[in-house]
Amino acid sequence: MGAGKTTFTQYLAKALGVKQTVNSPTFNIIKIYKIKNQKSEIRNLVHIDAYRLHSPQELTALGIEEYFNDERTVTVIEWADKVKPILPKNSIFIKFKLSKSGRSATIIKC
Ligand SMILES: Nc1ncnc2c1ncn2[C@@H]1O[C@H](COP(=O)(O)OP(=O)(O)OP(=O)(O)O)[C@@H](O)[C@H]1O
Ligand SMILES: [Mg+2]
Repeated sequence: MGAGKTTFTQYLAKALGVKQTVNSPTFNIIKIYKIKNQKSEIRNLVHIDAYRLHSPQELTALGIEEYFNDERTVTVIEWADKVKPILPKNSIFIKFKLSKSGRSATIIKC
């Protein structure tokens, strides 16, 4: 908690060309940002916070698999362990760590 997941997503959004402000989706669970960047193939950034979910099926019920299967959509999920059973096999996992010396992010699986 507070290790920088949302902050990481905000910078990723900027890099992808999202113009809107990216806020934590803790209360909405899911937020979708349209990308109108001529230079990029990516059309949507989907930002999910699974923290408050009780089962992966709650995410499936929101129709998320449509985005998982869309190659023009990048999906970022905070607290992804909560929904691991429904994630695509080729998902990238990034571990965020908070320590006394600061914050760090490590890609643990590609
Ligand atoms: N690399 C960093 N260096 C300094 N401060 C940071 C860094 N990353 C995030 N912060 C600050 O830490 C706070 C929490 O960050 P953030 O909301 O990104 O965490 P989070 O992992 O999404 O937390 P949560 O689990 O509550 O969703 C924010 O105030 C943010 O500005
Ligand atoms: Mg967050």
